[in-house]
Formats: sequence, structure tokens, C-alpha cells
Amino acid sequence: MFKNILVPVDGSAPAHKAVDIACDLASCYAAELTVLHVLEDAGSPRISRELRQYAELEHVWVSEMDVRRSASEEVLRNARIRAGERGQERVATQTEVGDPAMTILAYAKEHGIDLIVMGSRGLGDLKGLLMGSVSNKVAQIAQCTCVTVK
Ligand SMILES: Nc1ncnc2c1ncn2[C@@H]1O[C@H](COP(=O)(O)OP(=O)(O)O)[C@@H](O)[C@H]1O
Ligand SMILES: [Mg+2]
Repeated sequence: MFKNILVPVDGSAPAHKAVDIACDLASCYAAELTVLHVLEDAGSPRISRELRQYAELEHVWVSEMDVRRSASEEVLRNARIRAGERGQERVATQTEVGDPAMTILAYAKEHGIDLIVMGSRGLGDLKGLLMGSVSNKVAQIAQCTCVTVK
């Protein structure tokens, strides 16, 4: 049914859960699994703040760009460990730079992704929203099946 599964991750709890579910689906369908983190272009306050929070939690703190790169690597490393714990050793990880939603959509299109599994929310702190702006946009625009995880 599904051959190429993409899990976009931002280090949030819902994204971790998305990794777990994507692993189970990958096993179920014998699909390839790719974990993608998108670093927002320099100068964006939103992701930069989120990544900084994450970096502080993980005790990595140097320059702005170092923080962003380290946080990105950490997010992907954690996802890979999590996938290993779910029996998925063969996971591809990828970092891209750009607008998160547009970059996820472009990646999915270019790489023949047929299922995207993502968190319904991420690191954002707008309480009360069911869907974040990234998951909302990806679910609405993607041409493939999307699963949003709560
Ligand atoms: N920079 C990113 N790179 C990859 N995936 C992301 C990124 N930001 C968000 N996502 C994905 O989208 C989901 C929802 O996040 P988002 O829409 O940003 O919600 P929020 O507004 O709560 O941060 C996350 O759980 C994750 O799966
Ligand atoms: Mg977000």
C-alpha cells in the first residue's frame, strides 16, 4: 500500500509519536522510512526561538547557527534512536533549509513519498489549536495521504 513514508520532525512530543507510528506502518507495509527536519532560513524568529528552546533543554549552546545545526542533528539522532527501538534500523535522515511546510511538501513530491506521518502540533505554544500551521498546510496541500498524530 505505502512504499515511501516521510516523517517530518521538530523535536516535539507529537513528532516523537509520529516517528513511532511511522515505524509501525513502515514494518506493516515494508516501506522505506525517511525522517526530515527543516531548518528555517536565518532571520526567522519563530523556528529560531523553538530551536533555541530545544537546544537549551539539550544543553547545546554556541552561536546562533551552531545552535540551529546542533538542535537539528539532535532532533534527527533522537528520531533515529527511537526508530531503532521500534525495530527500524534502516532509516534515512535528512536536513533541509527553508520554510518548513513548503520544504516538506517539495521533498515529498520530489522523492515519491506516498505517506506523510506528522504531529498535529509541534513546538509552538499557541494553546487551544488542534493543528499547527505546518501540519495544517502540509495536510491541505500534499498530494499523498497524510496522517496527523495527537
Ligand atoms: N521545522 C520542521 N521540520 C520538520 N517537521 C516539522 C517542522 N515543524 C513542524 N514539523 C512537523 O509538523 C508537526 C506540527 O508542527 P506545527 O504545525 O509547527 O505545530 P505548532 O504550531 O504546534 O508548532 C510536528 O509535530 C512535526 O511533525
Ligand atoms: Mg511549529
